[in-house]
Amino acid sequence: MHIGILTGGGDCPGLNAAIRAVVRHAIDTYGYRVTGILNGWSGLIENLYRPLGVDTVSGLLTKGGTILGTSRTNPFKLKGAPQKIVDNFKKEKFDALIAIGGEDTLGVATRLYDEYNLPVVGIPKTIDNDIAGTDYTFGFYTAVSIATEAIDRLQSTAESHHRIMVVEVMGRHAGWIATYSGLASGADLILIPEEPFDIEEVCAILRKRHKRGRDFSIVVVAEGAVPKDTKQRVLKDYKVDDFGHVCLGGIGSILAEEIQKRMDIQTRYVILGYIQRGGTPVPFDRILASRYGFGAVKLIAEGEFGKMVALQGNKIVPVELKEATTRLKTVSKEIYELAKVFFG
Ligand code: F6P
Repeated sequence: MHIGILTGGGDCPGLNAAIRAVVRHAIDTYGYRVTGILNGWSGLIENLYRPLGVDTVSGLLTKGGTILGTSRTNPFKLKGAPQKIVDNFKKEKFDALIAIGGEDTLGVATRLYDEYNLPVVGIPKTIDNDIAGTDYTFGFYTAVSIATEAIDRLQSTAESHHRIMVVEVMGRHAGWIATYSGLASGADLILIPEEPFDIEEVCAILRKRHKRGRDFSIVVVAEGAVPKDTKQRVLKDYKVDDFGHVCLGGIGSILAEEIQKRMDIQTRYVILGYIQRGGTPVPFDRILASRYGFGAVKLIAEGEFGKMVALQGNKIVPVELKEATTRLKTVSKEIYELAKVFFG
């Protein structure tokens, strides 16, 4: 058995831990061969490979990023590319492919399985935690812990200067990072894409808090949060990527300006950006990535293709790729209700 493995989409902590688990389990337990495909789907179009042995994955558990490189290449946007992938897959004598990715990479994997019969298994990753069918993607808890630490630090400077601090976090169309880091750091307001906000209501909540003597506040805003009236997202870049995604970013600065104007309190903003994706994974993500890698090899050994490994409760289970990639998993009302208890 010869397994190809690739990482696609935005990088996140835990990718190397997953690669390591796949390689160790595939080689040590089953005697399979594993080859890394470089730079996401583009490596399979351009024939960019790297053999992976037990030695090559030594020391990878704690390393951020991905040793295979990544890209946001969508083969379904390039003429003839899906067929090229199938041809190269045969030429390299692969028997199975592991695609580690988020909604886009796994979406491509779904179509290659459905339309071209490619024997694919998926592993869900992303700091955004927005993949359906799984409780968590690895990368998420690391991003939450980085954001939480940053907000904790901002609390003391906000308090000393009696300021309002707006902290913008990533997450694209889902407010998971904002909700979890806001909850963990005791933020005074959390704004997420799932619940469009009204700037007057935002100020009313902050005023109420300041009236009861708390003369500083922390507002966590997800990059995809939108005002109720315009529903207009703030973009860093108007160009869309291969998957039709815009590049979000900047709502934090607009919000800070509006709050300062309306409340006449010094308001500063911080955009955490790519820091949330960098560096070593937290233990939860190291373990989850290892469990996913282990589970993916097991699916291949059992001939269960067209599926991804998922965490449900505390069990790793197979989920149909189609089921996981047809909708986004957004923040549940239940968890946001809890967050709201601490607003103001
Ligand atoms: O999907 C992960 C993510 O970090 C999102 O939170 C963010 O909107 C996006 O990727 C940024 O994409 P890029 O790396 O292409 O700038």
